[in-house]
Amino acid sequence: MGNDTFYVTTPIYYVNDKPHIGHAYTTILADVLARFHRLLGTPTHFLTGTDEHGQKVQRAATENGITPQEQCDRTVVRFQELWRKLEITHDDFIRTTEERHRRVVRGILKDLYQRGEIYASNYEGWYCVPCERFFTEKDLIEAKCPECKRSVEKLVERNYFFRMTQHQQWLIDYIEAHPEFIQPPHRRQETLGFLRKPLGDLCISRPKTRLNWGIELPFDSAYVTYVWFDALVNYISGVGYPDDKATFGKWWPATYHLIGKDILTTHTVYWPIMLKACGVELPRTVFAHGWWLVGKDKMSKSVGNVVNPMDMVEKCGVDAFRYFLMAEMTLGQDASFTEQAFTVRYNSDLANDLGNLASRVLKMVKRDLGGKIPPVPQTGEDEKELMELTLGAVARVQESLGTMQIDRGIADTLAAVRAANRYFEKMAPWKLAKSDDQAGLSRVLYCGAESLRIVSGLLYPVMPGKMSELRRALGLDDTEITPRLADLAQWGKLKPGQCTGDIESLFPRIVETKPVATMDTIVEPASPAKAPAAKPPRTPVSAKPTNLTKVAGTDQIGIETFSTVKLRTARITAAEPVKGSHKLVRLQVHLGTEDRQIVAGLLPHYRPEELVGKTVVVVANLEPARLLGIESNGMLLAAKTGEHLRLLTVDGALPPGSEVS
Ligand code: MSP
Repeated sequence: MGNDTFYVTTPIYYVNDKPHIGHAYTTILADVLARFHRLLGTPTHFLTGTDEHGQKVQRAATENGITPQEQCDRTVVRFQELWRKLEITHDDFIRTTEERHRRVVRGILKDLYQRGEIYASNYEGWYCVPCERFFTEKDLIEAKCPECKRSVEKLVERNYFFRMTQHQQWLIDYIEAHPEFIQPPHRRQETLGFLRKPLGDLCISRPKTRLNWGIELPFDSAYVTYVWFDALVNYISGVGYPDDKATFGKWWPATYHLIGKDILTTHTVYWPIMLKACGVELPRTVFAHGWWLVGKDKMSKSVGNVVNPMDMVEKCGVDAFRYFLMAEMTLGQDASFTEQAFTVRYNSDLANDLGNLASRVLKMVKRDLGGKIPPVPQTGEDEKELMELTLGAVARVQESLGTMQIDRGIADTLAAVRAANRYFEKMAPWKLAKSDDQAGLSRVLYCGAESLRIVSGLLYPVMPGKMSELRRALGLDDTEITPRLADLAQWGKLKPGQCTGDIESLFPRIVETKPVATMDTIVEPASPAKAPAAKPPRTPVSAKPTNLTKVAGTDQIGIETFSTVKLRTARITAAEPVKGSHKLVRLQVHLGTEDRQIVAGLLPHYRPEELVGKTVVVVANLEPARLLGIESNGMLLAAKTGEHLRLLTVDGALPPGSEVS
């Protein structure tokens, strides 16, 4: 490679379970970096994939009563579907069960074995039979398994080992001489700290009697390869190592291996030594990001706070979700995900600042300039200031890319958006439109539109869908929708006379309502058996408006409070799935004196056709909300426990619109 190509990788994800927000985060980050580098005109390769062998996958398969291969085939599509939803533009997707990968792993093992870098020896340790895992003396807690707290037995097992010890000093020297190799710097210190203790050789085999889901060792068919020794190789098998020299030579060494902080040792100790033993150059940078916490807590299935990215996309749209993740996390540190933080940032950055600027400019160009970009104006001090600020943001975004400070780049872009809004306030083009100052009006609207052209280009890698929409509305032609960074670094490229378009509402403000099965389902409930005992089961039967008065000191409400919620019967007259959503249905309902549209999360609990004709109960006085851009007027009542959701219906014939009390 060199500096003229960009090769970025994500970890390959285990297929023991469906993807969560952590997986989505790294993959979106890789996508944003890849898209930025494409804008720069740099040849770019983006690789992601799945880690399909090993204990975790074999165990999940057993639990699900299917074969490990079926487990992989069923789960991999969930990742692939999520990447499609999140508009991920990976160039390749590698599965470790593919022959192209298996062949390379076996080739490396054979070569290292023949050269004496891998040898057979006895492995001695404490084995936990139920967990099927070895532990060292140090790992044990009060002489018991640290995982399940049961008794462990001493076991001696013949295995194969990779000679790592002999490369320890070389690795320390390499890390010290290459500060860019492990980023951010505190992770580099962590690895150097780890390397202060003597490094043992790595056990790279598992006897098939214990685990048979893996790549068979080429020199001993009684064993499979340790999953990490198999998985790490994807970064080179995915770009043609060792046979396709042209492809491998083009992309390797990788520019960035993006990883989470928990897999630092495998990537900054095992992997470089494996490459060294194979005579392959090391990747330029391993970058470890922090974790997403939910509020202040670690995300965990047993606690039931796992954030499902599919539900987030459904609720807030793909672009806003991508934006939040990129803007909110400072790379290298942990970040906190909460519904409230999302709403605050969305409303402030997207609905207020960017959405407002776009709507002002486009509406006024249409109304006051006949929908055409005006001639390039003479500029005064205010315009110069806006131009400098905006172009400054372009430079800082480029810088922030180099230093992996994506959140800073986004903040600089938003600062340029706010500057444009301030310029608008100061120039008050609405007043100019009323006076006869056509030149002044043209100047302000041109500068507003030009500023939008640039910021939409800078935000395009983060929000490709919405920014394309905005760029199209600015009258940019098809070849300009995907921006080039070189064009963003110049002021005045918007062509006079271009016809601008309409944009309904780029980022509609989120109003704090709780429509059925939206925010309630973003944080997945734990399975009832695993839910903490203190929590009551989640049964969102009621409308639960948040601003109702309560009886002091209790959870009870008075009858007057309850009677503020207007419940009515309604007959469903039509139902269709909402495009792009796997939960929402658009319903037409009849309430006796009026017809309404309600969007509700009823899939897959009901098929749309079985909903038509049902008489249900709706909250009739809920303020309207928009779900995926579709207006919803009211809310259906439903009862939900665990995976089951049922609508509340009426026991007998009653006309639609009847009062429920
Ligand atoms: N299969 C290995 C990686 C092999 S790479 C050669 C693996 N897979 S994983 O599916 O368990 O995790 C993948 C990534 O998700 C890791 O980088 C991990 O740090 C990341 N995350 C898991 N939980 C996370 C958060 N809560 N927040 C952010 N990332 C997190 O490990």
